[in-house]
Amino acid sequence: MSVRRLDENQPESFEFTPENLEWAKGQIAKYPQGRQASAIIPLLWQAQKQHDYWLPEPAIRYVAEMLDMPYIRALEVATFYTMFNLSPVGKFFVQLCGTTPCWLRGSDDIKAVCREKIGEQSTVSADGNFSWLEVECLGACANAPMVQINDDYYEDLTAENFAKLLDDLAAGREVKVGPQVDRQTSAPVGGPTTLREIPHIAQTTGGEA
Ligand code: FES
Repeated sequence: MSVRRLDENQPESFEFTPENLEWAKGQIAKYPQGRQASAIIPLLWQAQKQHDYWLPEPAIRYVAEMLDMPYIRALEVATFYTMFNLSPVGKFFVQLCGTTPCWLRGSDDIKAVCREKIGEQSTVSADGNFSWLEVECLGACANAPMVQINDDYYEDLTAENFAKLLDDLAAGREVKVGPQVDRQTSAPVGGPTTLREIPHIAQTTGGEA
């Protein structure tokens, strides 16, 4: 688990774009009078998306004021949930799962590629393209090891196919999301191994069994 601190370099101010402001008002309106603070997660998330996928301190303050809630409570939420990035991230933000199933299947090799091609954890590469962070289980253990890059999962990774994936992303080439081997979603590699035939169902009414 990484330390959750606000970045030393912060912008002067933050405010939603007109489109995001309208969207935020729609979110707030979903909650009963006096419960507007319940909209904090979606509003912080939208602020992060607007701000190159990291959440600056003025945005936390701005959202707290919009929801008429104490700043410290908004700060607690922003610093508790790891979905909120408190420092700048690369254009491609790699979240690497290092939990047991992924670790047993080679996440250390994937981590070595991150170090070699991107640099140390939580630092943005010189070209601004990448940063990476080790996180806990992302729920795709059947296809371990895996990473999340921005909004997409990439699974069944090896050092080789992951290095190529990073190269392709950097070069703007099209990449395959999901499993990087021959499998459909989380089905067995090579195709289904069970329920491949329609079983004979005995007729129990009006005839022989
Ligand atoms: Fe890596 Fe669950 S352990 S996705």
